Amino acid sequence: MKRIAVFASGNGSNFEEIANAAEEGRIPDCEVVLCVCDRPGAYVTQRAARHDVPVLEFRPKDFESKRDFERIIADRMDGLGVDLVCLAGYMRIIGDELLSRYQGRIINLHPALLPAFPGAHSIRDAFEYGVKVFGITIHYVDETLDGGKIIAQKAIPYNGDDIKELEDMIHAEEHRLYPEVIKQILKDQ
Ligand code: GAR
Repeated sequence: MKRIAVFASGNGSNFEEIANAAEEGRIPDCEVVLCVCDRPGAYVTQRAARHDVPVLEFRPKDFESKRDFERIIADRMDGLGVDLVCLAGYMRIIGDELLSRYQGRIINLHPALLPAFPGAHSIRDAFEYGVKVFGITIHYVDETLDGGKIIAQKAIPYNGDDIKELEDMIHAEEHRLYPEVIKQILKDQ
């Protein structure tokens, strides 16, 4: 049985899709063993509770350095035997502690065709820029913001003027592609 940890900061719709996919066998032989959340009380923690997934929540500002809270996360993941870390709306750059201890085993989902539009407001940035082909990227994580080797991308053409409609299209594609990519990575591990 492969064990994954999902990191999220807010809503957690991707967390939920991954948890459902694991429970329903669409990601075979896989269990979500931990939800890591840097915003205590974020909606993702309620979703995790509904799926009986333990939550590790913390406030970064309660720690002196990123290394201090990442050590706690990595220790907990070591204890659980985590095989893969999936960032799903975790709005924080991963530091050396996690990168070195989980090297090559951390992936991220991003709502744009990287390297275009990195950051926390990519959909809005791309929409305001006026691009006509949006998309999503799944990539390995390195020390840079939304950087690292690309694993999968999906282009989403959109010519309309309704950002809500666009966001819904992008999220629907994320919910489809991320579990599929996780399944493939675990299979190859
Ligand atoms: C997703 O759209 C994800 O791609 C994005 O945050 C959203 C989280 O939604 N991530 C980034 O922007 C990373 N830079 P969710 O909490 O409903 O899964």
